[in-house]
Amino acid sequence: MEDIMDLKGRSLLTLKDYKAEEIDYLINLAAELKAKKKQGILGDSLKGKNIALIFEKPSTRTRCAFTVGCIDEGGHPEYLGKDDIQLGHKESIEDTARVLGRMFDGIQFRGYSQETVEKLAQYSKVPVWNGLTDTYHPTQILADLLTLKEQFGTLKGLKLVYVGDGRNNISNSLMIGTSKLGINYTILAPKSLWPNQELIETCKQYAKESGSWIEISDSLDGVEGADAIYTDVWCSMGEEALAAERIAILKPYQVNPALIEKTKKENTILLHCLPAVKGNEVTEEVFERFADVIFDEAENRMHTIKAVMVATIGK
Ligand code: CP
Ligand code: NVA
Repeated sequence: MEDIMDLKGRSLLTLKDYKAEEIDYLINLAAELKAKKKQGILGDSLKGKNIALIFEKPSTRTRCAFTVGCIDEGGHPEYLGKDDIQLGHKESIEDTARVLGRMFDGIQFRGYSQETVEKLAQYSKVPVWNGLTDTYHPTQILADLLTLKEQFGTLKGLKLVYVGDGRNNISNSLMIGTSKLGINYTILAPKSLWPNQELIETCKQYAKESGSWIEISDSLDGVEGADAIYTDVWCSMGEEALAAERIAILKPYQVNPALIEKTKKENTILLHCLPAVKGNEVTEEVFERFADVIFDEAENRMHTIKAVMVATIGK
């Protein structure tokens, strides 16, 4: 049994708000809940709790993870799609937040603006979990970290190389999570897709504290020695109009057999948050080679999101 760490009442808007030991605690709690579920043991930590799931953008994994995770612990999830509620059409975020906060014990938000999820937390006064914004995707990174831990037994000192759109929500959140937990983080991307300088500086400070480093380069040579490669779509949700431009600049950054070769390692793994556009950021053959770990990662969304709910609103 893990030591109890009190995260009750906390929102998860970005991993910047969580200390390394708190992130570690959530990963360990998720591993414990996963092991229990495999033995057929479910909890009742969310009995009597209702959670709202607001989706401005579509989702398979995040929606299902919150739904199944909540029900496994005895709670009730309510899906609120973008056309189902007044948010953004007829009612302000502040007012919707105050209504939901009176009825629900926790709120998941997936959408465009980071400011919206922050306002929801401020006005609802119940824990709000960021299920992806244009800027961050913190719950995804918890699943990625659990998967790395399962694969390598430890996180400190690993080298994770992200290849592709180096300034999207996944890369931003990975840079925060890895630098806090002592994983060395490399971004390989064209210069026009490098992250925001202020975020790089913040994460370099985290890396200094955890004894890791961050490297950002447009040269694919940086993949050498990678324990894990990570890639994501070249156009995130909402950026569909940029597809042709992105394909043109990101084509050299495709994860293909030649790139895997450049690691000069035998046991490098590939992670992908999914959904994948095979033929763009990763070839079908390479994707299939690493499918087992990629789908472990997808499954781990559920165990980690369950851990976040149990830790922040559970009994
Ligand atoms: N990885 C992820 O967030 O998947 P969904 O968009 O299906 O939720
Ligand atoms: N960067 C992707 C992640 C999807 C889970 C997007 O925002 O569409």
